[in-house]
Amino acid sequence: MSEQSKMDVTLTVNGNTRTVSVEPRHLLADVLRHEFNLSGVHIGCAHGACGCCTVHLDGTPRLSCLTFAVQCDGRDIKTVESLGGIDATHILQQAFKSEHGLQCGYCTPGFLMTLAPYVSKQIELGEMPEEADIREAMSGNICRCTGYHGIVAAVKKAISSQLTERA
Ligand code: FES
Ligand code: FES
Repeated sequence: MSEQSKMDVTLTVNGNTRTVSVEPRHLLADVLRHEFNLSGVHIGCAHGACGCCTVHLDGTPRLSCLTFAVQCDGRDIKTVESLGGIDATHILQQAFKSEHGLQCGYCTPGFLMTLAPYVSKQIELGEMPEEADIREAMSGNICRCTGYHGIVAAVKKAISSQLTERA
Protein backbone atom coordinates (compact mmCIF):
# COMPACT_ATOMS: atom_id res chain seq x y z
CA MET A 1 0.00 0.00 0.00
CA SER A 2 1.35 3.44 -0.87
CA GLU A 3 2.27 6.01 1.75
CA GLN A 4 -0.58 8.15 0.37
CA SER A 5 -3.20 5.70 1.57
CA LYS A 6 -1.89 5.84 5.13
CA MET A 7 -3.64 8.03 7.67
CA ASP A 8 -2.29 9.87 10.67
CA VAL A 9 -4.00 9.00 13.93
CA THR A 10 -3.26 10.55 17.29
CA LEU A 11 -3.59 8.16 20.19
CA THR A 12 -3.07 8.74 23.88
CA VAL A 13 -1.72 5.42 25.09
CA ASN A 14 -1.05 4.93 28.79
CA GLY A 15 -0.84 8.70 29.19
CA ASN A 16 1.50 9.39 26.26
CA THR A 17 0.10 11.10 23.17
CA ARG A 18 1.64 10.19 19.84
CA THR A 19 0.68 10.46 16.19
CA VAL A 20 1.31 7.39 14.06
CA SER A 21 0.76 6.70 10.41
CA VAL A 22 -1.42 3.65 9.80
CA GLU A 23 -3.27 1.93 7.00
CA PRO A 24 -7.07 1.96 7.39
CA ARG A 25 -7.04 -1.86 7.71
CA HIS A 26 -4.62 -1.87 10.65
CA LEU A 27 -6.04 -3.24 13.88
CA LEU A 28 -5.60 -1.41 17.16
CA ALA A 29 -4.02 -4.57 18.64
CA ASP A 30 -1.29 -4.63 15.98
CA VAL A 31 -0.63 -0.90 16.22
CA LEU A 32 -0.27 -1.11 20.00
CA ARG A 33 2.10 -4.06 19.72
CA HIS A 34 4.20 -2.90 16.79
CA GLU A 35 4.13 0.92 16.90
CA PHE A 36 3.96 1.34 20.68
CA ASN A 37 5.90 -1.83 21.61
CA LEU A 38 3.23 -2.86 24.12
CA SER A 39 3.64 -6.61 24.10
CA GLY A 40 1.13 -7.02 26.93
CA VAL A 41 -1.59 -6.73 24.29
CA HIS A 42 -1.97 -10.40 23.46
CA ILE A 43 -3.68 -11.73 20.36
CA GLY A 44 -5.33 -15.13 20.71
CA CYS A 45 -8.14 -15.74 18.26
CA ALA A 46 -8.05 -12.42 16.36
CA HIS A 47 -11.81 -12.58 15.82
CA GLY A 48 -13.42 -11.46 19.05
CA ALA A 49 -13.85 -14.80 20.80
CA CYS A 50 -11.14 -15.03 23.48
CA GLY A 51 -10.78 -11.61 25.12
CA CYS A 52 -6.94 -11.79 25.20
CA CYS A 53 -6.58 -8.48 23.40
CA THR A 54 -8.81 -6.43 25.75
CA VAL A 55 -7.70 -2.84 26.35
CA HIS A 56 -9.56 0.20 27.66
CA LEU A 57 -10.83 2.69 25.13
CA ASP A 58 -11.91 5.89 26.89
CA GLY A 59 -12.16 3.86 30.09
CA THR A 60 -14.27 1.00 28.73
CA PRO A 61 -12.97 -2.52 27.98
CA ARG A 62 -12.74 -3.08 24.26
CA LEU A 63 -11.44 -5.88 22.03
CA SER A 64 -8.48 -4.40 20.20
CA CYS A 65 -8.58 -7.17 17.57
CA LEU A 66 -12.02 -5.95 16.46
CA THR A 67 -11.12 -2.26 16.49
CA PHE A 68 -9.38 -0.41 13.68
CA ALA A 69 -6.69 2.01 14.82
CA VAL A 70 -8.24 4.76 12.68
CA GLN A 71 -11.41 4.51 14.80
CA CYS A 72 -9.37 5.58 17.81
CA ASP A 73 -8.11 8.94 16.56
CA GLY A 74 -8.05 11.39 19.47
CA ARG A 75 -9.04 8.76 22.01
CA ASP A 76 -7.58 7.50 25.26
CA ILE A 77 -6.27 3.94 25.37
CA LYS A 78 -4.95 2.00 28.30
CA THR A 79 -3.20 -1.35 28.09
CA VAL A 80 -2.26 -3.80 30.84
CA GLU A 81 1.08 -1.99 31.14
CA SER A 82 -0.84 0.92 32.71
CA LEU A 83 -2.16 -1.17 35.60
CA GLY A 84 1.04 -1.29 37.60
CA GLY A 85 4.66 -2.34 37.48
CA ILE A 86 6.69 -4.66 39.67
CA ASP A 87 6.92 -2.07 42.45
CA ALA A 88 3.32 -0.88 42.32
CA THR A 89 1.11 -3.75 41.32
CA HIS A 90 -2.63 -3.26 41.02
CA ILE A 91 -4.71 -5.02 43.72
CA LEU A 92 -6.06 -7.37 41.06
CA GLN A 93 -2.56 -8.31 39.91
CA GLN A 94 -1.62 -9.01 43.53
CA ALA A 95 -4.71 -11.17 43.93
CA PHE A 96 -4.01 -13.08 40.69
CA LYS A 97 -0.61 -13.90 42.15
CA SER A 98 -1.80 -14.94 45.61
CA GLU A 99 -4.86 -16.89 44.39
CA HIS A 100 -3.12 -18.63 41.46
CA GLY A 101 -5.24 -16.84 38.88
CA LEU A 102 -2.77 -17.68 36.12
CA GLN A 103 -0.64 -20.47 34.80
CA CYS A 104 0.83 -19.79 31.35
CA GLY A 105 -0.33 -16.17 31.62
CA TYR A 106 -1.30 -15.73 27.99
CA CYS A 107 -4.90 -14.82 28.78
CA THR A 108 -3.99 -12.75 31.86
CA PRO A 109 -3.68 -9.24 30.35
CA GLY A 110 -7.16 -9.62 28.87
CA PHE A 111 -8.68 -10.84 32.13
CA LEU A 112 -7.02 -8.02 34.07
CA MET A 113 -8.26 -5.35 31.68
CA THR A 114 -11.78 -6.82 31.66
CA LEU A 115 -11.97 -7.25 35.42
CA ALA A 116 -10.15 -4.17 36.78
CA PRO A 117 -13.12 -1.83 36.10
CA TYR A 118 -15.52 -4.46 37.46
CA VAL A 119 -13.52 -4.77 40.68
CA SER A 120 -13.38 -0.96 41.04
CA LYS A 121 -17.14 -0.72 40.56
CA GLN A 122 -17.84 -3.36 43.21
CA ILE A 123 -15.48 -1.66 45.66
CA GLU A 124 -17.26 1.63 45.00
CA LEU A 125 -20.61 -0.06 45.66
CA GLY A 126 -19.16 -1.64 48.80
CA GLU A 127 -20.50 -5.05 47.81
CA MET A 128 -19.05 -8.51 47.35
CA PRO A 129 -20.79 -9.87 44.23
CA GLU A 130 -22.21 -13.37 43.90
CA GLU A 131 -19.88 -15.85 42.19
CA ALA A 132 -22.31 -16.11 39.25
CA ASP A 133 -22.04 -12.36 38.74
CA ILE A 134 -18.21 -12.54 38.67
CA ARG A 135 -18.36 -15.39 36.15
CA GLU A 136 -20.75 -13.37 34.01
CA ALA A 137 -18.39 -10.36 34.13
CA MET A 138 -15.54 -12.45 32.75
CA SER A 139 -17.60 -14.53 30.34
CA GLY A 140 -16.02 -12.87 27.30
CA ASN A 141 -12.56 -14.10 28.25
CA ILE A 142 -11.22 -17.61 27.70
CA CYS A 143 -8.53 -19.30 29.79
CA ARG A 144 -7.20 -22.68 28.67
CA CYS A 145 -5.18 -23.40 31.83
CA THR A 146 -6.75 -22.48 35.15
CA GLY A 147 -10.30 -23.80 35.01
CA TYR A 148 -11.28 -20.25 36.11
CA HIS A 149 -11.43 -21.11 39.82
CA GLY A 150 -8.28 -19.13 40.69
CA ILE A 151 -9.44 -16.17 38.63
CA VAL A 152 -12.78 -16.03 40.47
CA ALA A 153 -10.90 -16.33 43.78
CA ALA A 154 -8.61 -13.48 42.73
CA VAL A 155 -11.56 -11.19 41.98
CA LYS A 156 -13.08 -11.97 45.37
CA LYS A 157 -9.74 -11.40 47.11
CA ALA A 158 -9.16 -8.04 45.38
CA ILE A 159 -12.63 -6.82 46.34
CA SER A 160 -12.57 -8.19 49.90
CA SER A 161 -9.11 -6.72 50.61
CA GLN A 162 -10.48 -3.24 49.91
CA LEU A 163 -13.82 -3.74 51.67
CA THR A 164 -11.98 -4.98 54.77
CA GLU A 165 -9.63 -2.00 54.67
CA ARG A 166 -12.62 0.35 54.64
CA ALA A 167 -14.53 -1.41 57.44
S1 FES B 1 -7.62 -11.83 20.14
FE1 FES B 1 -9.19 -10.39 20.37
S2 FES B 1 -10.84 -11.53 21.17
FE2 FES B 1 -9.31 -13.03 20.78
S1 FES C 1 -3.34 -18.98 32.20
FE1 FES C 1 -2.93 -20.05 30.35
S2 FES C 1 -4.61 -19.50 29.08
FE2 FES C 1 -5.10 -18.63 30.98
